Amino acid sequence: MRRIGLFDPTRERLPVSEPVKTVILGATGSIGTQTIELALAMPERLRITGLSTNTRIESLRDLVLQLKAGDYTETPQLAVVDAQAHARAQAMPELAPHLLPPGKDGLPALAGQVDADVVVNGLVGAAGLEPTLAAAKAGRRIALANKESLVIGGDLVAEALAQGKAEIIPVDSEHSALAQCLSGRDYAEVDKLILTASGGPFRGWQAADLASVSREQVLKHPTWEMGHKITVDSATLMNKGLEIIEAHMLFGVSYEDIDVLVHPGSIVHSLVLYVDGSLMAQLGFPDMKLPILYAIAREAHWPLGGQRLDLAKLGQLVFEAPQVDDFPCLRLAREAGLAGGTAPIVLNGANEIAVAALLADKIQYIQIARIIEEALAGIPQARVDTLEDALDVDRRARTAAEAIVDDMTP
Ligand SMILES: NC(=O)c1ccc[n+]([C@@H]2O[C@H](COP(=O)([O-])OP(=O)(O)OC[C@H]3O[C@@H](n4cnc5c(N)ncnc54)[C@H](OP(=O)(O)O)[C@@H]3O)[C@@H](O)[C@H]2O)c1
Repeated sequence: MRRIGLFDPTRERLPVSEPVKTVILGATGSIGTQTIELALAMPERLRITGLSTNTRIESLRDLVLQLKAGDYTETPQLAVVDAQAHARAQAMPELAPHLLPPGKDGLPALAGQVDADVVVNGLVGAAGLEPTLAAAKAGRRIALANKESLVIGGDLVAEALAQGKAEIIPVDSEHSALAQCLSGRDYAEVDKLILTASGGPFRGWQAADLASVSREQVLKHPTWEMGHKITVDSATLMNKGLEIIEAHMLFGVSYEDIDVLVHPGSIVHSLVLYVDGSLMAQLGFPDMKLPILYAIAREAHWPLGGQRLDLAKLGQLVFEAPQVDDFPCLRLAREAGLAGGTAPIVLNGANEIAVAALLADKIQYIQIARIIEEALAGIPQARVDTLEDALDVDRRARTAAEAIVDDMTP
């Protein structure tokens, strides 16, 4: 019998009361803006009660104005994390009366205290963990896009969920697909989870050819339009590595039973292999609105416009084995997940620093994996029991990775 993870596909699914009051963490990002588009398209089903940004207050004001134009009489509560951006927002009449306190405290307040049925966590990076914990402790339903929460603090999130009635529903398209394929099934029947990967812009390239790729090539994802960090992670396959850890945390399946399959079209979003050899898959046009809405609707299929998949027109689906030797981040992430303790936190923190360095044109693409590997080698493996431990390891990983980047920078 398998252990049930943070997400229990066998639990009783209760209908949601509508309209669903929704807080969006990371409203100015790719997941956030797509959630707002859903809210504007179906105001009778979805109402926004809280929004956050880090720095992009002009975009936040645009979102607030769009909601106003779309019949919102009350502006949602707003969290602006960056202190300078918060100070500037206080001078904006559309934002000022609705602002929560500046700094990191605003996000847990938004996640745990503002009136909401669901918290969409569309934050990027480790910054998502504390708000995930706050939402879990407050008993909220969490539509979780921020996979980093589970990579660096999966066990802490499990503890917080165990305290009450909170639940997590995955937004990542692969994990949403797995949730759909597992829905109502007996876990004893599951043999393997199979995460599909587009392969990113360098699918088919050899390690030697990757030495001189440009930042622009890295940012050209073949099938999805997303924020910069996840786009870089998709090019290194770190995104799939983080998703392996996320799948382990969500579904409680052991690492050796989580496979990766390259599928360049991003049509099959993931599969479950059952013990009798039956394979269940979820297919759809690559559009994040579908898994976002599925999570908000508490795993119901609500009507959604947009492109429909025409399989006859598509003709064929292509699959390949992943190039583990050419894309070392996939191996590093799997090893870090298996090691547990400090390793996934170091992996994630070093990766965030390396990705930021690549985006700032300080390092080359192939140096990302080296930075992570060196950071992992430099920080001794240990247990992580508390949030303070996790945040301390995250800080140490970032400091170590920054020093490695400095050494690499001419
Ligand atoms: N985009 C997708 O299609 C997709 C698909 C699957 C999973 N995901 C996952 O969803 C999450 C969000 O991805 P995304 O592509 O939407 O990212 P994104 O476009 O970069 O947006 C990130 C959001 O988080 C805010 N933010 C960034 N750093 C912050 C910090 N330190 N403190 C508080 N807020 C911060 C940003 O504010 P500013 O606007 O001020 O920077 C922005 O609102 C990631 O974990 C990603 O892996 C995304």
